[in-house]
Amino acid sequence: MSDGRDSLWFYMDGNAQMKIQFVDLGAQQKRIRDKVEARIKKVLDHGQYIMGPEVAELEAGLAAYAGAKHCISCSSGTDALLMALMAYDIKPGDALITTPFTFIATAEVVALLGATPVFADIDPATFNINPALVSAAADKARGMGLIPRGIIPVDLFGLPADFDGILETARQRGLFVLDDAAQGFGGIYKGKKVGSIGDISATSFFPAKPLGCYGDGGAVFTEDDGLADKMVSIRIHGKGNDKYDNIRVGINGRMDTLQAAIMIEKLAIFEEEIVMRQKVAAAYTEALADVVEVPAVPQGYRSAWAQYSVLSDRRETIMKACQEAGIPIAVYYPKPLHMQTAFKYLGCKPGDFPESQRAAERIFSLPMHPYLKDGEMGYITDTIRRAATRK
Ligand SMILES: Cc1ncc(COP(=O)(O)O)c(C=O)c1O
Repeated sequence: MSDGRDSLWFYMDGNAQMKIQFVDLGAQQKRIRDKVEARIKKVLDHGQYIMGPEVAELEAGLAAYAGAKHCISCSSGTDALLMALMAYDIKPGDALITTPFTFIATAEVVALLGATPVFADIDPATFNINPALVSAAADKARGMGLIPRGIIPVDLFGLPADFDGILETARQRGLFVLDDAAQGFGGIYKGKKVGSIGDISATSFFPAKPLGCYGDGGAVFTEDDGLADKMVSIRIHGKGNDKYDNIRVGINGRMDTLQAAIMIEKLAIFEEEIVMRQKVAAAYTEALADVVEVPAVPQGYRSAWAQYSVLSDRRETIMKACQEAGIPIAVYYPKPLHMQTAFKYLGCKPGDFPESQRAAERIFSLPMHPYLKDGEMGYITDTIRRAATRK
């Protein structure tokens, strides 16, 4: 995934006029640089690089933002997912139902614990797991001799999953819901912020995410005191009350104090940035809706717009035109998980999840960040319109 620095220059009339970035971390940094530097200096002065006071300060701020009782920060979005599954004692013989149209980490953590990811296809309108297919996936898991334990929906591209349907199936089947909110933090589902829906939410603060740090970072959120206690312990080698009396096997999953300090300043402007992202997305949709399939945002949802992804049968032509115009474009994801080499052992076939396959063949993502200027968006949408309608 892009770290947001893959910038390109393009030239108009022979003059360097604009620099379009897929994710512009520099524009944000310019806004808050003084505050970030002051925060970093404070950490250098107190010297508590591991679990310094900024970690608890950030966690309190994140929990308040999400409306969640507990927030436990950690070293990455992947470790956030891992800590959540470890809190449920996931082990070989267990099955977790998830989407094949996601980043590898969602299912990787399941396999890491020796459990089996069982996929359910996406709803083509939202790219998120289709709740109507979850029960059949749980039956399939049973048929394989596995015990279905939980559902891992993903808020793909920032759009919250269809939680009502997912939670209903979860209740009926006695499954937990772990929201992979790596891309969804900042989103809203029917009045509830992502981070406060389901049993545990896990998010990522990878630099290019809507809320990112300057390195790796992540967090889990839950309302459940028991799960929170377990994840606090798992984050630091399964510690008990005494640091050297470990009561379970855990990981080294702490967030650095320096990252927490930086993120406190980023969180302060996050809501404003999410609102700015809505404007960018709305402008894209208005300019492109008649030439490509633009993303749907169902009633009652707010996307965090981690990506603005569109579909077209003319993807290759459009991407070539964008490349020539110096516009960075990414494809998330060219290969669904069931077709990746790492999951070959699951024995899936290309046609098993036709909606994921179809999306993978036609999808591409445009530059997306809160600081895109009107001129840049006009240049991007003009280029795409020309390529999409060329005879
Ligand atoms: C859907 C999803 N899950 C999990 C992760 C893993 O997050 P991290 O890179 O912070 O480990 C990512 C990161 O790209 C993601 O997009």
